[in-house]
Amino acid sequence: MIARIVAAAAALALACVPAQAEDFFAPVFDVLTHPRCLNCHTAVDFPRQGDERRRHDFQVRRGPKDHGVAGFTCAACHQSMNQASSGVPGAPHWALAPLSMAWEDKSPADLCRALVDRKRNGNRSVDDLIEHMTKDALVGWAWDPGAHRKPVPMPREQFAQHLQAWKRAGAKCPEATPYRLKSLGNGLHWVSDGAYNTMFLVTRDGVVVIDPLPTLGARYLDAIRQVTDKPVTHLIYSHEHTDHIGAANLFPKGVAIIAQRRTAELLEQRADPRRPPPTMVFDREYTLEVGGQVLKLAYPGENHVPGNMFIHAPAHRVLMLVDVVYPGYSPYANLGVATNIPGLR
Ligand code: HEC
Ligand code: HEC
Ligand SMILES: [Zn+2]
Repeated sequence: MIARIVAAAAALALACVPAQAEDFFAPVFDVLTHPRCLNCHTAVDFPRQGDERRRHDFQVRRGPKDHGVAGFTCAACHQSMNQASSGVPGAPHWALAPLSMAWEDKSPADLCRALVDRKRNGNRSVDDLIEHMTKDALVGWAWDPGAHRKPVPMPREQFAQHLQAWKRAGAKCPEATPYRLKSLGNGLHWVSDGAYNTMFLVTRDGVVVIDPLPTLGARYLDAIRQVTDKPVTHLIYSHEHTDHIGAANLFPKGVAIIAQRRTAELLEQRADPRRPPPTMVFDREYTLEVGGQVLKLAYPGENHVPGNMFIHAPAHRVLMLVDVVYPGYSPYANLGVATNIPGLR
């Protein structure tokens, strides 16, 4: 069974290849883009709240100095510590991070560059940044956010170790990879950032997009615009992992989102605004017919992670299966976890 899949993957080069060098920024990025940080590091005129990052209640505004408008400042409600009785969070100097420090909707490469840019980060060196993130009380609030709020899932000491590892490796930022785009014929297009691969299908009625890769972010839309002006009508999630679908929120609201049922269930638990829940769910098989094109989606069982599906474009003779076989590598020891193998038989 492995041989069959290896042959398919090698022929089509559509499996995911891990990046060459270890990406020390990745775990840092995971913390910085957690809602507890992003709700203050917004790119808009207001703070956000909750894990769904909805607009802050009471029409709270950023104001000229990021701490609210005259007569309605953050400090009017937020004190220097959490208020147990009312559930209002608090920490010293509660305010929005300036717009130059906005991290919302940034790719790892863009966020990292904003972070280390002394013109944008309050003139901080890498050591200053690490000091701030490991010692500052306002940042520390994210590990003790009070009320029903979930803390940043990684302990702060572990975050500190990741920051040190990133610094030791030269505090390098991930490359802002330009995409590569190639037609596979008859409306099907392969897109790659050099490491991650995916594809989209242009139909008479619109574009079916598979895996909105966060490493590409909005550049995925640029790639589509390069070949068509048709609107994106469908998004398909191969599986639930953020590194494959974490830019879904950058696609137009109201597109149909398709996933296998287990993926939908996992995403419901994640409640991650970057990965909105599917609007269409299937169990074993689903044939998507749009504007004269056909994609066959199949889920023979667990592989890599529950919900990881086979995406087949029969007319193009292309099969996409993510994170199972990596060209040039042998399948890794446990193929995800051993319980996930049966779906590959
Ligand atoms: C209550 C709002 C709030 C929360 C929550 C918050 N920040 Fe900030 N952050 C700020 C403000 C305000 C500044 C600007 C302060 C300054 O420059 O001294 C800032 C600045 C920073 C800076 C330095 C400037 C930069 O962007 O490079 C870093 C780093 C930072 N925050 C990290 C974090 C991390 C990590 C979290 C979550 C674990 C977090 N912050 C959560 C409000 C917040
Ligand atoms: C009128 C009172 C009021 C004002 C003014 C106010 N807040 Fe809040 N804020 C609240 C309350 C209450 C909550 C808790 C809401 C909840 O948990 O449902 C909250 C929650 C938040 C959260 C959510 C934390 C999270 O991760 O869920 C952030 C961030 C925040 N406020 C930032 C600000 C900033 C920045 C300002 C000033 C620009 C501000 N707030 C002004 C009352 C206020
Ligand atoms: Zn995966």
